[in-house]
Amino acid sequence: MLGGDGLARWRGMPVFVPRAAPGDVVEARITERRPSYARAEIEEVKTPGPLRREAPCPFYERCGGCQLQHIEDAEQLGLKVAAAVETLRRLGGIAPAQLAACRFEEPVSERAWGYRLRAQVHVASRSDGDASPEESVGVGFRRRRSHDLVFVDRCPVLAPALENELRGLPSLLGGPAAASKTQPSRLSLATAGLEPDSPVVAAPPGDGLPGGELEIDLLGKRLSYDARCFFQAHGGLLESLLLSAVGPFDGEAAVELYAGVGFFTVGLADRYRSVTAVEAESVAARYARNNLRRNGLRHCRVDRSAVESWIDRRRGGPGLEPGLDRVLVDPPRAGLPRKVRSALLSAAPRRLTYVSCDPATLARDLGDLTRDFDLESISFFDVFPQTAHIETVAQLRRRR
Ligand SMILES: C[S@@+](CC[C@H](N)C(=O)[O-])C[C@H]1O[C@@H](n2cnc3c(N)ncnc32)[C@H](O)[C@@H]1O
Repeated sequence: MLGGDGLARWRGMPVFVPRAAPGDVVEARITERRPSYARAEIEEVKTPGPLRREAPCPFYERCGGCQLQHIEDAEQLGLKVAAAVETLRRLGGIAPAQLAACRFEEPVSERAWGYRLRAQVHVASRSDGDASPEESVGVGFRRRRSHDLVFVDRCPVLAPALENELRGLPSLLGGPAAASKTQPSRLSLATAGLEPDSPVVAAPPGDGLPGGELEIDLLGKRLSYDARCFFQAHGGLLESLLLSAVGPFDGEAAVELYAGVGFFTVGLADRYRSVTAVEAESVAARYARNNLRRNGLRHCRVDRSAVESWIDRRRGGPGLEPGLDRVLVDPPRAGLPRKVRSALLSAAPRRLTYVSCDPATLARDLGDLTRDFDLESISFFDVFPQTAHIETVAQLRRRR
């Protein structure tokens, strides 16, 4: 499997087949041909492979949110790890000796359903026969391979409180009183826990839609944020992810790039005498500052800035200068821009931690960074069960 798709060969050419499972015999139709690969869609599963199962969610066939529900829960992480390792080997230009010397930790997983603390749902009026008059508005996710929506009344990967909120949204947004109002086309929902009565907030808030902040206790620190902010998605993996990324290291000065509301910052704060966190989004940066203040972490600061301009500026603070003990980066899916990779190589911090949600961009970036850093360990976290996504923490040390 690669990127959540099954991998077949046709006349020697790799063919990516979404919704295929290892060992399946399927009849598939080629839908796209490129010089070096093709894509195909399953027409019929002739003989199911040993890992295949009936997808538990009734929307799975149409909805684009999940890619692996047709594979047994216990088998998904192994397949994703194997695909991520293959990506690191093939795409990155990482020296084979580096990968051979790297310690691959036991992959970490927790609950496979009802785990998600955040969701973005689309809102649209619905004219199909399934809709009742009170539910003239539907909520849903993008259809697979399409910009159309699939209206849903459940989503079993969501934390229970979020799923309850989702179920109530059509009548809340589509009741008679709502007809005259302009509905948002997209809603962000977030909850702070995995209990059915955990608080839920929405952005934008509205009639009946809860606004406000969430609070979460994390290894003795209290973090607040709201539905507009990025927050780690899996409610059962927050502590293990934080501990793994921060690790047992310590020192004088640390910098964290792409810091969000300070999720990793509060962990680094216990181990370094000064921490500078950089975050571009003003709402997240404001929460990060408040989170440091309320936890009494006066030796930490937040610079609201795009990382690309922050590394140029270097005023009012240490910046990405030589002599740092630690840099932790947790960029969006696109990974680190070339300029940031170059700045990291020039600054040459003693230790570098890379938290990644995309093995392909991680592979590219490690290909550059391992010119001057040794890859010590890689840990995989199943932060998104039922989907093709995987979270990786790579620990690197400056080569002497
Ligand atoms: C994957 S999230 C990680 C956030 C945080 N580390 C956490 O675990 O909650 C990436 C963060 O980078 C921020 N971001 C995106 N592009 C950025 C940029 N060019 N410069 C600084 N921050 C950026 C986003 O707003 C988001 O908060």
